This record gives sequence, structure tokens and C-alpha cells, in this order.
Amino acid sequence: MNDVTRDWVRSLPKAELHLHLEGSLEPEMMFELAARNGIQLPFRSVAEIRAAYEFSKLDDFLAIYYQGMSVLRTRRDFRDLTFAYLQRAHADGVVHVEVFFDPQGHTVRGVPFADVVDGIVDGLAEGERQFGITHRLILCFLRHLSEEDAFATLETAKPHLSKISGIGLDSSELGHPPSKFTRVFAAARALGLRLVAHAGEEGPPEYVTEALDLLRIERLDHGNRALEDSALVERLRASGMTLTVCPLSNLRLCVVDDLRKHPLRRMLQSGLNATVNSDDPAYFGGYVLDNYMAIVAALDLSRAEVLQLTENSLRGAFATLDATSDLR
Ligand code: ADE
Ligand code: ZN
Repeated sequence: MNDVTRDWVRSLPKAELHLHLEGSLEPEMMFELAARNGIQLPFRSVAEIRAAYEFSKLDDFLAIYYQGMSVLRTRRDFRDLTFAYLQRAHADGVVHVEVFFDPQGHTVRGVPFADVVDGIVDGLAEGERQFGITHRLILCFLRHLSEEDAFATLETAKPHLSKISGIGLDSSELGHPPSKFTRVFAAARALGLRLVAHAGEEGPPEYVTEALDLLRIERLDHGNRALEDSALVERLRASGMTLTVCPLSNLRLCVVDDLRKHPLRRMLQSGLNATVNSDDPAYFGGYVLDNYMAIVAALDLSRAEVLQLTENSLRGAFATLDATSDLR
């Protein structure tokens, strides 16, 4: 019998480093915001929405994710979304978050960039006041869109860079390799932004290598398929790269067909700085603590392995956090 209890994992200080704010939009809030903004949803009930969350690959999810975020229209909407996420994170024992947002999913609908970012910052500030949760904000480029679109987004973001710590890359991976964004990541780096990218979720190990060599990422989002290349694993280990792993997301998007086959323990055994995160918790059936407990149960992780994961999350943050633990 495993002695890793939910209360114990909750009690461990931890950071969440892979969370799309738009992916924390619960169906209840989707309805609330649709009503507030006079938007007609193609669903009649929360149950009907949840029933639509059946995915066989990343692109199935992304279609419904972009549709869902269309209810977000005002600065207040983005504030409410962000604060609701932080309430959940606080309940899970999260002390620090480095969250993603997808501005192109909003500006394309005519929502001003400033309303998106300022609403998120309002929510983050309120979360810090009420719960003491510290934060960083990471702007993600949608990789299915063009390099030109990403450059335009970076330009729009320039007056807001005091509020944005880094740049990421998300959306449909296959067919949209990191190399497509080499120049825009170089421009972001020149502006002093930190760099992360989704790679090796569905895409091959070569995409991870491109993210390292061409984008010069400082943290790898997912990275599961890096394990197919032992030289790449050694490179990730030797450089101390943090991987932001998302177990329930991997299950729901069929990156793994059974959590018992999830590579997280193999990552730890290979000396990789793996962390546990929720990705899009409203869509994948759980927030960060649910992700810890699901992977603990599936892989029978020990207390020492869980402590390694939570310490990795604190050390992998761009903010400097105290990752020492006397709980071992
Ligand atoms: N956008 C939101 N969640 C994502 C994921 N898991 N992969 C790629 N893009 C995303
Ligand atoms: Zn993600």
C-alpha cells in the first residue's frame, strides 16, 4: 500500500509551470461569461459540454479549446478566469505559478491585447494578495499561425513587457516545427524574455532538438518523446533542463493510452528534472493535485519521488524560490 496521501502531497510547497489560463475555463464559467457577454454557446448544459470532451489527439482538443475561449471578451472576464484558477491552485498547495496565455486566440476576435493582459494581471495580483501565490506570465505563440503573425503579436506586446516574463510556443505541433519560429524567438530573447516551448508532446524528438538548438529554450514543455533518443535524454540531463510534464493531459490526448505506461518515472530515473502540471485542467479532468495523485497511483511513486517532483517544480521556476525541503 502506497503511503503517499493526498493531504501530504497538498502540504508540499509546489510550483505549477505548465498551465494554459484558457484551459482552466470550467464549463460553469463558460456559461456565466456567455450570458454576461450575450454569446450563444452551441451547448445547452454543462453536462453537454463535458460530454464533448472526448479527444483522440491534440487537434481534437484544440478545436474545442479555441471555441471555448470565445466567451472571454473583457478585462473582467480575464481577471475572473485567472483568479478562479488561483483559488484552485491555492487549494492544491501551489505557492508559485508561471502561466501561459494565448493572445492570438483573443486578438483575432477583436479583443484588445491590453484587456487580455491587464485582466490576467488583475487576477494574478488578487491571487497574490489573497493567497500569497507568486507568479510569472508567459505569452505563447500559436504555432499553427504564421511567423509573421507571431512577429506582429510580439510587436503588440512590447508596451506590456514589464508584465510578461517569457515567450512560449503551443497549439498544433505536428507539421509546425520549432524552426518556423527561430527568428521570432531570437527577437524575444533580445528583448530579455525567457524562452520555453511545447515540444515532443506529439512531435518527434527532432522537434525537441530544434527547440534547444534553434529556439534556445530554457524549459521544455512536455518533452515525452525525447525519451526515444538516448543522446537527447543525456543532453537534457546534462544541461539540467526542466521538463513540464502533464500526466492527465497525456492520457486524455492519447499521448499515452494508459497512465501506467507514462514515462514520468523513467524521466526521473534518467536524471531529468521532470515536474507535474495540469496543462488544461478544465478539459482534462483535474488540477495539479489530481495530476500528482493520478500518477502516484498509476506508477506507485514513492514519497522520495514525489518530493523530487515538487522540488524540481520550485527549482525549475524562472522566479527564484526556496526549494529546500526538510520533509525528506
Ligand atoms: N494549448 C493548450 N494546451 C495545449 C497542449 N497540451 N499542447 C499544445 N497546445 C496547447
Ligand atoms: Zn500545454
